[in-house]
Amino acid sequence: MGPDLIERIHSELKQNMSSRRYRHTMGVVDAAVYLAKKYSVDIQAAYIAALLHDYAKDFSEKQTQTYINRNGLIIDETMSNVYQLLHGKVAAHIAREQFNIKDRDILNAIEYHTTGRKKMSKLEKIIYLADFIEPGRNYAGVEELRIVAKQDLDKAVLLALDNTIKYVIFMGELLHTNTVEARNTLLLEK
Ligand SMILES: [Fe+2]
Ligand SMILES: [Fe+2]
Repeated sequence: MGPDLIERIHSELKQNMSSRRYRHTMGVVDAAVYLAKKYSVDIQAAYIAALLHDYAKDFSEKQTQTYINRNGLIIDETMSNVYQLLHGKVAAHIAREQFNIKDRDILNAIEYHTTGRKKMSKLEKIIYLADFIEPGRNYAGVEELRIVAKQDLDKAVLLALDNTIKYVIFMGELLHTNTVEARNTLLLEK
């Protein structure tokens, strides 16, 4: 992964997302690199996964649907009903097709950052968590999550999953089974 590729990703990100989302992305990059150093994960992998995780987040619903149809992506029932959940899967596909990212762990970290999933790798956990604690985030509970993130990666991911599950239920929305499985396997690993 040379500097040319990184530069190309940055310029295409700016074309495909709002400046607000680009700032968020850079915040996730910073948080992911910090966590990668702290928990001994490949820093370059964390950097690339964070950089690309929200590539498709600002796509319109139509644009997302077109991309999915054109590329034959397989979407489960929950995802097809919760349009916001699709952007991870689309971004992972773009990472592979447009930017030639081959590392399965990086692609998984991008794909599953929206829901989590069972038995997440350390890199997947880092990207999932970085998304919640990046410096631009401001919501009830973020400070606590930042503190735990500095102490214990699994505990922090579990807290983020718990918060998400409570929020989704509070909002009366569909809860993806990947999120439940992520939580269950984390509890069983302890
Ligand atoms: Fe996202
Ligand atoms: Fe994000």
